[in-house]
This record gives sequence, structure tokens and C-alpha cells, in this order.
Amino acid sequence: MTLMQKYPRVRDLLPLAKRRLPPFVHAYLAAGTGAGEAVSRNEQRLAQIELLPVFLRGRVTPDLSTSLFGKTYDLPFGVSPIGLSSLIWPGAERYLARMAAKANIPYALSTVAGDSMEAIGPVAGDNGWFQLYAPNDKVIMQDLLSRARNNGFSTLVVTADVPGPSRREDMARAGAPIGSRNAMSLTPRVFWQSMTHPTWALAALQNGGKFRFKNLEPYYDASSFDNVTQFIGSQLNGSLDWDYLNEIRAAWDGPLILKGILNGQDATRAVAAGVDGLIVSNHGGRQLDAVPASIDLLEAIRSSVGPKVPLLFDSGVRSGLDIARALAAGADFVMCGRAFMYGVAALGEPGPDHVLAVLKDELENTMVQLGLERLADLPTALSRQS
Ligand SMILES: Cc1cc2nc3c(=O)[nH]c(=O)nc-3n(C[C@H](O)[C@H](O)[C@H](O)COP(=O)(O)O)c2cc1C
Repeated sequence: MTLMQKYPRVRDLLPLAKRRLPPFVHAYLAAGTGAGEAVSRNEQRLAQIELLPVFLRGRVTPDLSTSLFGKTYDLPFGVSPIGLSSLIWPGAERYLARMAAKANIPYALSTVAGDSMEAIGPVAGDNGWFQLYAPNDKVIMQDLLSRARNNGFSTLVVTADVPGPSRREDMARAGAPIGSRNAMSLTPRVFWQSMTHPTWALAALQNGGKFRFKNLEPYYDASSFDNVTQFIGSQLNGSLDWDYLNEIRAAWDGPLILKGILNGQDATRAVAAGVDGLIVSNHGGRQLDAVPASIDLLEAIRSSVGPKVPLLFDSGVRSGLDIARALAAGADFVMCGRAFMYGVAALGEPGPDHVLAVLKDELENTMVQLGLERLADLPTALSRQS
């Protein structure tokens, strides 16, 4: 049986991902915050978007290529930044970057990724974006940006929607050591969970057996886990404001995207500050459980910023059909977080290629069923957004 026969949808990978990951790692990937309502709402509100086909158009051959900031990508979607992806599956950053370069889609490497921009930049080629959590220390910010530029990252994604850590109760209950005082330490519970998930533990061991924030290691003494926690707590915790955004804009001469914008007021101000695009995102429902589904905010943000500003979208996308729905609802480009990570968690190295194949096939098929060849025509298919 081929992977496509066994796992024809991203959701078919979820049980395998859950089985293979130690519970604290699975919780890190899957968790929302509070009661998990924002995570469900993201998915449900996308599912409620209906699209209306037109027929008798003969053979339909969709063109899925999309231009963004002067570059043409083969597909209208990319990979959202995921912190510590190599905790979820060792080597994840490399596997995702390799897939993105081959498929010609963007891959956003997180500030708090496990692997470094020096290692991943060359793998991602000109498909690498760098996601910045603005550190308190602006010398570090300048250094991160020059390293990103020197390692070939074309586009900067500045994340706006983490003003402080979120509670993520499911992670605490699963025994995740991250975020607790003894962050990343090998508690007996973590040890036990790792030993009872040997494929993951073995892959982790082969990858060095240690969870590291390699992008940040030049800035602290990484020999002790306490230093890591202390550094992250003091540097990446609510430092971003509008003045700081201006400084980042001045320091980065390439395309700059602000990620996590949810209201028209912030969107308008960001565009006035010289931001080139926005990601309408609620961080996959991981920060505030009361937040509206991000799909429901696209229309208001579009009317605030006008037709020209590229609006990217993420949060809740699990299929190529969802990608079509987001494009129909007004997004110019779509980013996928968990969808790709469930693939890596379930399948390891072949995961990203498989998820890509599924999403692409579903999107292409959706276009054929709708009778559309151009992605730009998707809004004409929007039937109802209840
Ligand atoms: C495990 C995990 C880690 C994440 N880490 C980051 C991060 O380091 N930086 C960031 O901007 N967003 C981060 N996000 C948010 C994603 O970039 C993206 O906005 C979110 O996953 C989209 O929702 P989806 O997972 O439903 O597609 C993370 C999300 C997950 C699931």
C-alpha cells in the first residue's frame, strides 16, 4: 500500500502521530490553551465555508503557482514557523526545509527552532523565511537579522501575538517540562514517556539526545538548562511594541510580514509602519481561548488595509480544501502549522513530502471540481460563510 492509500488525508496521520510521540511531546504539538475551544473553532469555521462549482467548462487544468513579494512559488501555501520542531521529531527542520526547497514553497524557521539558521539556510535555498520573536536586547535582534540575511533567508516574519506565555494546561497535565521552572530537564515522567516511545527516543538520541535552541545559543551559556530558561524568560517575553517594530523595519531591507494580526486597527497601523504583508493568525488557538476563528477576521482586515496588501492566513488548515476555502475568503497565501508537523510526527523524514502531496492533490482536485483554473477566481466560488 502506498502512503497515499494509507493516509489520503492529513487527519489520517493523527492517530499514528499520537502513538509515536511521548504524551508530553504530543501535547506540545496538539495543545491549544484553556478548554481548547479556539483550536476547534478554527477548524469548524473553516469547515463551514461552502464553495459553489460551475460546470460545462471542459477539461480544467488549474495553475497553482502564486507570486508573493516578487517571487513565484509553485503553490499558494507554505510552512508556518514551529518552535522546537525537532522536539516533535528529531531532524524536523531539515526535513521540512528540504521539502520546501524541492517543492518551491516557503518554509519559515522559528527563532526558537531546534536547528540553526546556519544549518537550515543552505537547505531551504531561496525558500527560507526567518521568524523573529523580538528579543529584549536589540543587539541580539540586529545579530539575528544579519545572520538570517547572511544565511539566505529572504523574508522576515515578526510574530506579534505572543505578548506573554500562554497557560497551555494540556501540556502541564501531560508532564511537559517546557515552561515549568525546570524547563527541558529530564524529569522521571519525561524519562518514562521517552522510554515507552522507543522510535522517538532513538531518533532523539541519534540527533544528539538534547533539545536545543540553536539560533539562540550564541547569546547564552548553553551548558546549563537553567540558563536557557532564564534567557528565554527574560529576552523573549513581551518586548515588542510599535517603536520596536519600527526599529526592526529599519534593520531589515527585505520583505517583512507581521504575524498574528487579528484586528483592523493593528493591521492599518502595521501597514503604515512599512510592513509588507500580514499573517491573519491566532497562533493556531494556542494563546487565548476566546479568540475568534482567524478565518472570521479576514474580511474585516481586508477592508481595513485595502486590496493591495498581501494577506496570508493560518490557523486550522488541515486540507487542500481548507486552503481553497481560505483563498476564497480573501487570503492571498496560506500557511500550515500542525498539518505538516503531524506528517513529520507520524512518518519522520518522508512526512513533509507526503503532507505536501496530499495538500496539493486536494487543492488541485478542489479547483477541478469547482471548474476554476486560476486561484484568483476562487472568491467567485464563495457560496456561503455562515
Ligand atoms: C507546536 C507549535 C509551535 C509553534 N511555534 C511557533 C513559533 O515558534 N513562532 C511562531 O510565530 N508561531 C509558532 N506557532 C504557531 C504557528 O506558526 C501557526 O501560527 C499555527 O500553527 C497555525 O495553526 P495550525 O497549527 O492550526 O495550522 C507554533 C505552533 C505550534 C503548533
